[in-house]
Amino acid sequence: MGSQHIKSNMVRVLILGLVLFVIVSIFGMSCQASPATTPTPLPAPAPSPTPSPPSAPAPEAAEEGRALFISKACTSCHTVQGMPEAQGKVGPELTHQASNSLIAGVLPNTDDNLKKWLKDPAAVKPETIMPNQNLTDREIDALIAFLQTLK
Ligand code: HEC
Repeated sequence: MGSQHIKSNMVRVLILGLVLFVIVSIFGMSCQASPATTPTPLPAPAPSPTPSPPSAPAPEAAEEGRALFISKACTSCHTVQGMPEAQGKVGPELTHQASNSLIAGVLPNTDDNLKKWLKDPAAVKPETIMPNQNLTDREIDALIAFLQTLK
């Protein structure tokens, strides 16, 4: 009876050891396996393409127009006070162009008429010496945005 008791105790210890071993090894495996099963970080989201800028807001158009006013040599004929590049004396001073009531003395000073004027001055006033500079619509819009700032 006594030796059997010892024997079953040993079996218990063995089983317990085995169970512990299995638990430990599973635990160890799961520990080792964990790095592999860690979900790989999601790839950084592709940078969203920068949306194309909306049609140039007025301040930028005016800025562009100002540059055109210089590059298209409008400055060689027109004076704009406060603009060192614009000291021309051939045409009228444009310092307060936006407040003028007439364009070239013949057309009411509206955006549409300014457009006509800049597109082809001689079509508005045949005797004018202001040249047709073959400006594009975009250039004309920018120039007008600039001229509108001359109040
Ligand atoms: C060769 C000289 C010359 C150049 C270059 C020139 N202009 Fe003129 N511009 C004139 C003259 C002269 C007038 C007056 C119109 C008239 O009565 O014949 C005028 C008139 C104007 C007017 C109307 C102003 C008013 O009070 O009647 C505007 C606006 C104007 N020009 C803008 C421009 C712009 C913008 C440019 C450049 C793209 C330009 N001009 C280039 C000579 C010039």
